[in-house]
Amino acid sequence: MTALVEAVGLTKHYAVRHGWRRHGALRAVDGIDLTVPEGAAVGLVGESGCGKSTVARLLLRLVEPTAGTVRFAGRDITGLDELGLRPLRREMQLIFQNPHAALNPRRTLFASIAEPLVIQAGLGGAALRARVEHLMDDVGLPAQFLWRYPHELSGGQKQRVCIARALALEPRLVILDEPTSALDVSVQAQILAFLAELRARRGLTYLLISHNLAVVRQVCDEVAVMYLGRIVEHGPVAEVFAAPRHPYTRALLAAVLPPRAGALPTVALAGDPPSALELSRGCRFAPRCPLAEPVCRPTDPALDPVSHDHRVACLLARRAPASPSTA
Ligand SMILES: Nc1ncnc2c1ncn2[C@@H]1O[C@H](COP(=O)(O)OP(=O)(O)O)[C@@H](O)[C@H]1O
Ligand code: SF4
Ligand SMILES: [Mg+2]
Repeated sequence: MTALVEAVGLTKHYAVRHGWRRHGALRAVDGIDLTVPEGAAVGLVGESGCGKSTVARLLLRLVEPTAGTVRFAGRDITGLDELGLRPLRREMQLIFQNPHAALNPRRTLFASIAEPLVIQAGLGGAALRARVEHLMDDVGLPAQFLWRYPHELSGGQKQRVCIARALALEPRLVILDEPTSALDVSVQAQILAFLAELRARRGLTYLLISHNLAVVRQVCDEVAVMYLGRIVEHGPVAEVFAAPRHPYTRALLAAVLPPRAGALPTVALAGDPPSALELSRGCRFAPRCPLAEPVCRPTDPALDPVSHDHRVACLLARRAPASPSTA
């Protein structure tokens, strides 16, 4: 599969100031390489504050990177200005966590979904109405909802409106930032199943951001695990779930899945991640890693392959057997 999005060395540091003096840098995203193949669904998972949303904003060029490059459909878009980015904006859409905040309460569903079609595609009249109705049908909203307001809808229905609006301009890439976190547990599974079905039907490419590995498993083919601004493990969902290598991935998995026979021992995750302002040298997970050894601290583990396309940044994982059957 060819890469639709390709980030190399992508970095975002925020300057921290006390009064007028610069006090250091908060390393929100710290040199990540991430490829999203065309037609694939890649999950980006990690605890709150690890930099997931910043990655989304960097890929969409909504914030300026401190360093690194972003390629979209083979083209380097890092240096493009707003005018140069305009035609690409249609092809890359972002769906936010909170559909309640994303919709204007004074606008009907028709007005919300029609907006991008009017502004960016110049549609009007009967063609606009037909297109909006088609989109509503596509996301499973009944036609009689056309003139309803957001407060008349459930959370799941509102998220379907946001999805319809994002799909209006036929994007190639959809970035979903915690798309079900603000929804009732009862509708989360429904929306995830719908997102998976929608991708298959429309041949979309997803980057699905979540703090929950179980969410990623329902929708994605690949998963990248992020910790404090870095990716610590990246591989096919089936392989990472069957044989997670990085202790952080193992801890995240232990929180959502029962331990498997023959798997590496479970790792318990204690405490919160340290601040991205005060990062220790060496492996960033070392202060919380129950398996840390002295060698983990001064060295900086690179994302090394443990098997074909499954890569892990952990010294210990490199020493562990690579085959899932012997793990
Ligand atoms: N505009 C900003 N200015 C300063 N710090 C920011 C800004 N945006 C995000 N951060 C910080 O960057 C880190 C990563 O944030 P974010 O990408 O939102 O994480 P996540 O989406 O994984 O919860 C956090 O420490 C956050 O406080
Ligand atoms: S490199 Fe060391 S501290 Fe880091 S995750 Fe692996 S074992 Fe733990
Ligand atoms: Mg976020």
